Formats: sequence, C-alpha cells, structure tokens
Amino acid sequence: MSLYTLTKPVLFSLPAETAHGLVSRSLEAVQNTPVESMLRGTYVVDDERLSVTAFGQEFPTPVGVAAGFDKNARVSRALAALGFGHVEVGGVTAERQPGNPRPRLFRLKPDRALINRMGFNNEGADTIGARLDETTLPNVPIGINIGKSKSTPLEEAPSDYRYTYERVADAGDYFVVNVSSPNTPGLRSLQNRESLEAIIGELQDAGAAPLLVKLSPDLPGPAIEDSLAVVDEMGLDGVIVTNTTTERPESLTAPQQAERGGLSGDPIEECATGLVGFVAERTDVPVIGVGGISDAEGAYRKIRAGARVVQLYTGLVYEGPSLARDINEGLLDLLDRDGFDSIEDAIGVDQ
Ligand code: FNR
Repeated sequence: MSLYTLTKPVLFSLPAETAHGLVSRSLEAVQNTPVESMLRGTYVVDDERLSVTAFGQEFPTPVGVAAGFDKNARVSRALAALGFGHVEVGGVTAERQPGNPRPRLFRLKPDRALINRMGFNNEGADTIGARLDETTLPNVPIGINIGKSKSTPLEEAPSDYRYTYERVADAGDYFVVNVSSPNTPGLRSLQNRESLEAIIGELQDAGAAPLLVKLSPDLPGPAIEDSLAVVDEMGLDGVIVTNTTTERPESLTAPQQAERGGLSGDPIEECATGLVGFVAERTDVPVIGVGGISDAEGAYRKIRAGARVVQLYTGLVYEGPSLARDINEGLLDLLDRDGFDSIEDAIGVDQ
C-alpha cells in the first residue's frame, strides 16, 4: 500500500485549497533536509532515454509540473526530488494579489477533475523574484509563468508583463506569456493578434528568452492559427497547449461542475491532446502538452501527438507523489513496446 493511499482520504476530507496548502508546506519543509535526498533516491528515474531538449534547455524527463501548483516559487526543489523534469512557477503578476474569494478550488471527484477560479493569487513579482534569487534552485529547468495584474487595464498589459519579467529574469530558464487563464477579467482577449504582438514585443525588448505563449483550449481553430502566426513572425520559442477550459463537457457528473472557473483533469485530456496535434502540425517550435495527464499512457499520447515536453497539475492531486516516477517508468516500458530508442524518437509520430 502506498503512502498516498493513507493520506489521500485525509487530504480529500479537507477543502481543496486547504489540502493544497498543507501539501505545499510539507514539501517546503523537507527541502534542503535529508528527506529531500531520500525523496530523490525514491522517485527520480535517471535514464538518458527520457531526456529531451527544447529551446536550448535540457529536460531530464519530459514530465514536469504545470503552472499554478507552485505559484510563489516555494517548492521547486521538492517537486524535482519527486521526479519531475521541470517546474513552471507562477502565475506571477506584477502586483501582489489576494485572488478571488474562497472557496475557489473544487474537486470533481467522480470526474477526476478540478475547477479553479483562483484569480492569480500570488505574492507578486518583487517578493517572488527576490525568493527565486535567494533560492538554490533544483537541477531541472524552471519556467516562469507570467500573468497580468487584475488592476492593470488591458491596454497597459505589455508594461505589466515586462515589470514581472524583469524581476524574475535571472532565475527563469524559460518564460511564459499567460494570456489564457479564465479567471482574470478580459485576460483571454489578449490572445488576439494585436495585443499578443504588443506584449511579446515588450518582453523581447526586455530580453525575455526563451519565450513561450500558453493558449486556451477554448480558442476556435482560426484564432489558434492567428496566435501561431504571431509565434512564427515574432520568433517565439515554444507554445504551451493548453490552459483550463470554461466548457463543461456532458460527461461530467459531479455537482461541482456548476462552479465558475477553469476545468482541468481527465475530462480535458482528449481535447488537449487533439489541440497539441493541431498546433504541432502548424508550427516548427517545440510544443509543451498539458491537460489531463495522469498516467504514462496519457503523457505518451501527447508526446506522440507532437509534444516535446509535457506537464500536469490535476493528476498529482488524484495520483499523489509517486506520479512522476510511475509515468517515467511507464514511458520507458512504452518506448520498449514500440521499439523506440528514446522519447525524442516518439515525438510527433502520430502527426
Ligand atoms: C492552474 N493553471 C494555471 N495555468 C497558468 O498558466 N497559470 C496559472 O497561474 C495557473 N493556475 C492554476 C491553478 C490551479 C488550481 C489549477 C488546477 C490550474 C492551469 C494548469 O497549468 C494547466 O494548464 C491545467 O490545469 C491543465 O492541466 P491538468 O491540471 O489537467 O494536468
């Protein structure tokens, strides 16, 4: 019996955000202690066949932690010790923000999903930037997901993103323009061509690289193609597909589906994988695939669809701390089964 079989019922008896806080504090407490090395020994799968390169960064495994889990850059060492191959910190905003009133994070247990309307609660770029600068970061790429402060008008978004970038610039191995979270009013309208160009232009002027954009699964095909044209014209380094959805698939059964916010987890897996394929076919830059991954098969499907790197958040809530190890070991089995020498060989084979 795994440790999570025992702790999950306790965590699930608490409100979702309380449980997340408890887990985060525990992860933070073990960092830089012997427990961290013990975790590393237990959970890290060190195998060259898993390593991938994307936008000049080496990822020891393609499986990382998506934005939102480590909003304040407190637990990246512990997450790397659990076997994740990168951690995307944030969303970070220029201003410190409380986010929306609680409750704002809901489990849809029978659907193995979450709905969140956190609203970019975070300690702000000054504090998070200082923390990143003081921390000995783990030996895996650290991405920084940048969002817009709620109080900043949409037309002033470029300078708001730049302010944050300049405070986290030294610590990040890649930077993400997040214009796809559904919980900041108007944010997703910044995915239009003109706004995106203005934000990216400002960040590139500040020296942000590698620079990626994260897209919403709710964008219609032509709008995605528009965003990809911007990626191409402005020489962006990658695309992350996808953020949470405001759609509610008919398959949902939990009453919490009525809550406002972005849906993540199992119910978005298929759609997100489809979008990874759609985007990978239309761009030459690396695609990071995210949405509903909770096992090796799910990670493998996104890789075969064209994702060079994958991420997850909701799967970790339902599967627990052994998830990265299980996926990494499972990926090695799947590579063997299909006769691939490495993950690199499997990327995009279904395209
Ligand atoms: C998120 N996600 C997210 N994405 C982002 O770009 N910036 C953010 O700040 C957050 N915050 C956030 C909070 C919470 C509580 C959740 C559940 C999710 C979205 C996340 O990175 C990912 O794109 C989706 O959750 C889909 O992946 P999973 O969860 O299905 O693996």
